[in-house]
Amino acid sequence: MKMNALYDVYVEQLKDMYSAEKQLVDALPKLAEAASTPELQQAFEEHLSVTRGQLNKVQALLDDINENPGNKVCKGMQGLVEEGNEVIKNGGSPVTRDVALILAAQKVEHYEIAGYGGLRAYARVLGFDEAAETLNGILDQEYEADQKLDDIAEGGVLDAGLNEESA
Ligand SMILES: [Fe+2]
Repeated sequence: MKMNALYDVYVEQLKDMYSAEKQLVDALPKLAEAASTPELQQAFEEHLSVTRGQLNKVQALLDDINENPGNKVCKGMQGLVEEGNEVIKNGGSPVTRDVALILAAQKVEHYEIAGYGGLRAYARVLGFDEAAETLNGILDQEYEADQKLDDIAEGGVLDAGLNEESA
């Protein structure tokens, strides 16, 4: 049963975020492996378990309204993951790579923040209060991940890059 146009946008966006999280579950172990700063490696590993949880939450939100993820592919996340892969392939010094990995990961977080922010707004207007709460919780986790990356960058990675001679 289709309710209205906003409902359709909500479902499409949920499917999109499902695909986004799924792609991220595959990408994060590679980012963790490529990171050389221990805190960064740890942040990626922690975010992997958070991301798995988010994937389940998005699946549950779709289940609640009798929808399923289908085979929609999030093209935005595809591009962002591709950029992350390029950083890994480009090599360079460990510090250079960490700086670039942090930015690639922050682009991912900001993309997700936009997606979940929209979803939360739609859920509220649609009267899906519990879903809005769940989405709010996911949003908090994405903000936290973004902040953590800021802290790691400012906590020494950027300075290390500043003090390293260019190749
Ligand atoms: Fe996420």
